[in-house]
Amino acid sequence: MLNDAERRALRRALEIAADPAVPLGPNPRVGCVLLDAHGRVLAEGHHRGAGTAHAEADALNRAAPPLIGATAVVTLEPCTHVGRTGPCADALIAAGVGRVIIARRDPNPIATGGIERLRAAGIDVELDIPVDLAAAAAALNRGWEHGLQHGRPLVTAKIALTLDGRAAAADGTSQWITGQAAREEVHQLRTTCDTVLVGAGTARADHPSLTARRGDGTLHHRQPVRAVMGTGHFPPLPGGAGEAIPLRTHDPSAALAELFDRGLRHVLLEGGPTLAAVFLRAELVDELIVHLAPTLLGGGRGGIGDLGITTIADRLDLDLTDVTPLTSPDGRTDLRLTLRPRTT
Ligand SMILES: NC(=O)c1ccc[n+]([C@@H]2O[C@H](COP(=O)([O-])OP(=O)(O)OC[C@H]3O[C@@H](n4cnc5c(N)ncnc54)[C@H](OP(=O)(O)O)[C@@H]3O)[C@@H](O)[C@H]2O)c1
Repeated sequence: MLNDAERRALRRALEIAADPAVPLGPNPRVGCVLLDAHGRVLAEGHHRGAGTAHAEADALNRAAPPLIGATAVVTLEPCTHVGRTGPCADALIAAGVGRVIIARRDPNPIATGGIERLRAAGIDVELDIPVDLAAAAAALNRGWEHGLQHGRPLVTAKIALTLDGRAAAADGTSQWITGQAAREEVHQLRTTCDTVLVGAGTARADHPSLTARRGDGTLHHRQPVRAVMGTGHFPPLPGGAGEAIPLRTHDPSAALAELFDRGLRHVLLEGGPTLAAVFLRAELVDELIVHLAPTLLGGGRGGIGDLGITTIADRLDLDLTDVTPLTSPDGRTDLRLTLRPRTT
């Protein structure tokens, strides 16, 4: 069980771990807060990406020794491996901390074992974390954990649909199906994924910038890598810091492998209908976010392309995990549906 000071410290550790200045990518985001025996904060630290100090080392470097009897509050199990930095579990033991609170076990086979090592050194290790904080710790590194388990990036597909399931009008226009609140949410979503991917058809039709912008048009601090998949010509994407990555393939597994090799761990697939269907057919969509607008087009492009389904028995069922209304300042409300393809 955590006391009030420890709960506050864990909330803070989660907050600093999510520092938007830290690039997303192949390393987990981790925060650490050191408390003295009275629950006062001694130091904070967080990991700032590959090649930099781990969160525990960062916090220990900022704290004045001795730390005998201090508590370390960490968002991820301290590591036991020697990489570019030494094992964090050993550093905590050497510093003399008496208690370590860990919000999430490390799923990385080469880093795990920190809990056992700390306990073997006589340190009190606490794993009983309030459910909301444990969920926040899990959400922090969703893409990274997925990469360890599956060897490919996590894929969140997002599509804006009319009530009759259309993604674009007959002339190809689709801007904008949804209201301001839903559109701003997409920009926020882009800051939490490290890659935004569209098909070449969307790049040709919409000339999207795929940057993450605030309501006033300014760029968010964290920008996703932009990628376009297709073998034909498509125009350069406007705006953004760098060139979009061209994925010159029609094979979704190969596209994801290329992104994974570049250290990318969470892909936001923003369409269009052809690419959404290609990834769904290949069972490479882990989560689907639909922004459903209370509007009708009657004709036009269906939201999902050909899934190869010809009879109802073969339909692709999804589990609905959340429904949230998104109300814009003008009073218009769209619905956000979050779904997961059913695995059984
Ligand atoms: N409502 C929404 O959320 C939303 C989102 C995005 C787009 N849209 C709309 O969707 C329309 C564009 O639809 P779209 O289906 O053409 O776009 P798309 O899915 O973005 O792109 C299709 C293109 O992707 C490439 N591609 C990559 N892998 C493929 C594969 N395995 N099989 C087939 N093609 C593959 C092909 O380009 P190459 O021929 O170059 O190889 C193909 O022409 C536009 O009207 C746009 O406004 C709507």
